[in-house]
Amino acid sequence: MSEVKEATRQQEAQALAAGNGSGGRELVRMTDLSKVFLTEEVETHALASIHLEVREGEFLAIAGPSGCGKTTLLSIIGLLDSPTAGEYRLADVPVQDLSPSQRAQIRNREIGFIFQAFNLIGDLTVYENVELPLTYRKMAAPERKRRVHEALERVGMSHRTRHYPSQLSGGQQQRVAVARAIGGSPSVILADEPTGNLDSVNGEAVMDLLRELHADGATICMVTHDPRYAQYAGRTLHLFDGRIVGDERSDAAHELEEAGFEVD
Ligand SMILES: Nc1ncnc2c1ncn2[C@@H]1O[C@H](COP(=O)(O)OP(=O)(O)O)[C@@H](O)[C@H]1O
Ligand SMILES: [Mg+2]
Repeated sequence: MSEVKEATRQQEAQALAAGNGSGGRELVRMTDLSKVFLTEEVETHALASIHLEVREGEFLAIAGPSGCGKTTLLSIIGLLDSPTAGEYRLADVPVQDLSPSQRAQIRNREIGFIFQAFNLIGDLTVYENVELPLTYRKMAAPERKRRVHEALERVGMSHRTRHYPSQLSGGQQQRVAVARAIGGSPSVILADEPTGNLDSVNGEAVMDLLRELHADGATICMVTHDPRYAQYAGRTLHLFDGRIVGDERSDAAHELEEAGFEVD
């Protein structure tokens, strides 16, 4: 095996190992968390008795049938929504006690979102879309420029800075959305069915990108319907009717373990 390949293998092994609770700082901790939606007369128990811990460097897939609470869980992790009961700590901060503006500030710094429908702003260019969250953060212009170029380079979209989203393919739009998510170096990347609107070739390209980001140390929580893509993650959380019914490590992690790497 070449040295480069060996180094990559070691790096992936370390990322996977870190992703299974051995080293990284605890980023997400949910304790007996629940979420109830009240609409007219109907009460929907979207999440119940959720206990969840995610550590720095993990790549977590969240799987389960439609309506089981995946998006709700991701929205709470990303501070877009609040639990009805229970405790949520993000990087050891009990975030439910914060004001809406403090939550928005933390969200902007700590969280990078990737959505199924890309959610780029149609009348902003690729460059401006990636820059926008950094502008909200009041980052100085030269630093913004450096980060936007770096992020677009990372996803292979530097040649399209002046294009508008409608001038790009779905796969390209999602790569720009990934650049927007990573531009601010967030603690956690949250992706809600990031391949759901893409054909398999573009879907795999986006998954490869997420896998590379993870190998470089990113922490990722990804909702997916597709068991093939869940395999990319070191750990899969299975939800059913708002409850966690399974929390397992993927074959890749097991294979590493069998190959003698320490994965606890
Ligand atoms: N804003 C909302 N108001 C009322 N009910 C909601 C709302 N968001 C989600 N729900 C309900 O909560 C449950 C979980 O939804 P969701 O988290 O979107 O599931 P998934 O992403 O797994 O398909 C569903 O029954 C859904 O109808
Ligand atoms: Mg959903």
